[in-house]
Amino acid sequence: MAAEPQTVPTPYPDFVKIVEVGPRDGLQNEDQRLPAEIRIEFIERLADAGLTTIEAGSLVSPSWVPQMAQTERVLAGLRHREGVSYPVLVPNMRGLEDALRAGAREIAVFAAASETFSQKNINNTIAGSLSRYAEVAAAARAEGVAVRGYVSCTLGCPYEGEVALIAVREVAGSLFDMGCYEISLGDTIGVGTAEKARAMVRAVSERVPVAHLAVHFHDTYGQALANVLTALQEGVRVVDASVAGLGGCPYAPGAAGNLATEDLLYMLDGLGVRSGVDLRTLAAAGRFVTGSLGRTPRSRAAQALAATEE
Ligand code: HMG
Ligand code: MG
Repeated sequence: MAAEPQTVPTPYPDFVKIVEVGPRDGLQNEDQRLPAEIRIEFIERLADAGLTTIEAGSLVSPSWVPQMAQTERVLAGLRHREGVSYPVLVPNMRGLEDALRAGAREIAVFAAASETFSQKNINNTIAGSLSRYAEVAAAARAEGVAVRGYVSCTLGCPYEGEVALIAVREVAGSLFDMGCYEISLGDTIGVGTAEKARAMVRAVSERVPVAHLAVHFHDTYGQALANVLTALQEGVRVVDASVAGLGGCPYAPGAAGNLATEDLLYMLDGLGVRSGVDLRTLAAAGRFVTGSLGRTPRSRAAQALAATEE
């Protein structure tokens, strides 16, 4: 009798959801402020590429992050598309009220695993921010608004250096307990390497089911793609990225942009992992926004594609 053909088990899923954070994480760290109309066109182009979760901006204090002023206008100007979500960052009840008025259907709250970073970023302790977020999350959910949670500094802090995995796990757990449907684990300054990323995801998934975890890696040392690979092997199915490698954090000195969405997509396509996103349309959106900023995309895949199109 003939043997059954062997199928080699792959550690990768059939589908990965990409959360595009360029219009928020990317633009918040650019010196140049883009007008609301350009931000709207940028987001529409990202949606045309097939992205279904696109962070549209932040309802934070404009004296802390001036680049995100006018996020209400951006939200109001977006065309409704079935199945596409435009979350906005909200630091407090004031931000939630503004978000609701502007018609947001999803928000994100952002905590940190490092005390000093929490102070510098949101002028609050970790515990203080979590109790404030619990109030924000309850009020949002009462309005039928979905809540995502971030943990910053999961692989290192610009002020404190090493961050204990137990701190990352506990902050993620608190966000999950207050009703965040997904917890995004941020390597805010992009210092992690692949096996550290794996250990971090593994530690957090002892507290929060891996189906509710996302990864958010900045690419300061060029390790983000490798870190994503180990996170996928650990069962993560949601990855944040920023087209053209835009990004950084105004309160994390030296932090480079996020993993470029084009580079992530090129890797996923190569692994046979579907995402529903079209690389050429995505790369064109990246060229649109970097053109508006007066520079070229940082994504290696986007640069290579542009060279073949010349
Ligand atoms: P504060 O100074 O302690 O706040 O800042 P306050 O309540 O004392 O208010 C100060 C002023 O801000 C007042 O105005 C408020 O009205 C105003 P004034 O009376 O002085 O004219 N204000 C607001 N304005 C607009 N929208 C609001 C709002 N709240 C107060 N929601 C606060 C505390 C949280 C407001 C401030 O620290 C802040 O806005 N921080 C935001 C910082 C930020 O956006 N950082 C970047 C995002 S985090 C990130 O990038 C990491 C991530 O990507 C994951 C990763 O990579 O790891 C998510
Ligand atoms: Mg970030």
